[in-house]
Amino acid sequence: MNIRAVATRILIPLGFVFSLSPTGFAQHAADELDFEYFRSEVQPIFLAKRNNNVRCIQCHTRSSGFRLQPLADGAFFWTDEQSRLNYASARAFVVPGTDPLKSRLLTHPLATKAGGDPFHGGGQHFASQDDPEWRIIADWVAGASSRREPSGLVIRIIQTSAAGDDTYVIDPVTNKVVGIIDDIEIAHGIASAPDGSQLYLSNEALHSLDVVDSRTLRVKRRIPLSGRPNNVSVSKDGRKVYVGIMEMPGSVDIIDTQALTNIKTLPVDGAIHNVYVTPDGKHAVAGSIHTSTINVIDTATDELVWTLKMSAGVRPMAFDTNADGSTKNIYVQLSNFHGFAVVDFNKREEVARVEHPPVPGEHAHTDGLQGAPAHGLGVSPDGKTLWSTSKVYSHAYVYSLPDLREIGRVFVGQHPEWVTFTPDGKYVYIGAAGDNETHAIDVATMKEVATIAVGQVPKRVATALMAVE
Ligand code: HEC
Repeated sequence: MNIRAVATRILIPLGFVFSLSPTGFAQHAADELDFEYFRSEVQPIFLAKRNNNVRCIQCHTRSSGFRLQPLADGAFFWTDEQSRLNYASARAFVVPGTDPLKSRLLTHPLATKAGGDPFHGGGQHFASQDDPEWRIIADWVAGASSRREPSGLVIRIIQTSAAGDDTYVIDPVTNKVVGIIDDIEIAHGIASAPDGSQLYLSNEALHSLDVVDSRTLRVKRRIPLSGRPNNVSVSKDGRKVYVGIMEMPGSVDIIDTQALTNIKTLPVDGAIHNVYVTPDGKHAVAGSIHTSTINVIDTATDELVWTLKMSAGVRPMAFDTNADGSTKNIYVQLSNFHGFAVVDFNKREEVARVEHPPVPGEHAHTDGLQGAPAHGLGVSPDGKTLWSTSKVYSHAYVYSLPDLREIGRVFVGQHPEWVTFTPDGKYVYIGAAGDNETHAIDVATMKEVATIAVGQVPKRVATALMAVE
């Protein structure tokens, strides 16, 4: 038996005592459980909002037992030193091994009927031992140093609420809401990690980029931004997230998704509304409403490489590609223009403009347009159609590419906004901001297949790859 095993045997029953007055010896035993896994996977659970519960941190900074360090003013996460202290405290309430029910850290917040303790002054946080957050802690206690493999990956449609704190996760097979992310007030943009592990949502209320765990649907980390964010986009390799900062003089924040830090605030021309990584991954294209400028960033160097001034504020954009995958055109909706412009990416100039005609018999809405009569644009995955929504006429206009001929129109509710396609191109989802609904439309037949009730003022919608437990 080696010395480490002996130390573990002796110290486990005394863990509580030793953690209160840590010695080198106790620290040695405590390190048997992985610190990094605790820091990055277990700790977020203590900060997360779940259902109607109070966050663990709200009570346990004052506890004489399980004690969490208070966060510094304005901080979203603990420093490494604080994490060490949290670790020592949590360690005192666990018995390493594969029986999680021996650990108070697991039995106290677990529902009594699921095997938890009869009472926890902080309430029942986990309804069952299958709860993914509970399992993260149980795996730590069992000696895990990384998350267990997901059982699979699924496609989801993510609909945010521009006037709510709930973001809806829709299964495009059943067209049912299968989850709600409920701790982000004014979630703006959404992007998913290419490996499906997490989602990135910009948080306008806290000026953060919120990393949401795909399996728990809880905010796992909030990364401070340089200002109020708007839309986000993820690099093809998943290593970086570009966040448009909607404040003059204008910048794009670049987030390292491994270190989970804001690595660069790149100055650009104008407050940024939307930013998109192009389909080939080579550029990030950021548009400004304030200065009417399209800013093109090289994603290899993260430098601004060219800009183009449009005649009006730059709103949603969409891209199509040449045969070699490089960017062909940028389709651009503009402030106070009921239609879109076409920018040739190589020529770096506007080459066409298409205005949406009125829809006969449809009442024209002019109220609450927020300067953008058309504010939702998408190129279908096969590159053959362009969908553009009209708040004025409550329709999506469908154009064939590359000839830009209108081939159909479909009613998509009051104040339709953003557009996203399933990866197979069969369905398009459009948020109807005025109806609090997301509309699912069959792309080929241009017929609605489902209307899904979502939150307040659903604007931004995106397609995500997500890991499942
Ligand atoms: C509303 C306040 C509150 C919240 C929120 C809360 N707790 Fe507690 N917790 C308490 C109180 C009070 C006690 C002591 C009484 C008891 O044993 O229930 C306690 C006890 C514990 C204990 C036993 C050790 C000790 O300190 O006595 C553990 C472990 C624990 N909580 C873990 C958690 C975890 C993990 C969470 C979040 C998932 C959480 N608690 C959320 C109030 C809270």
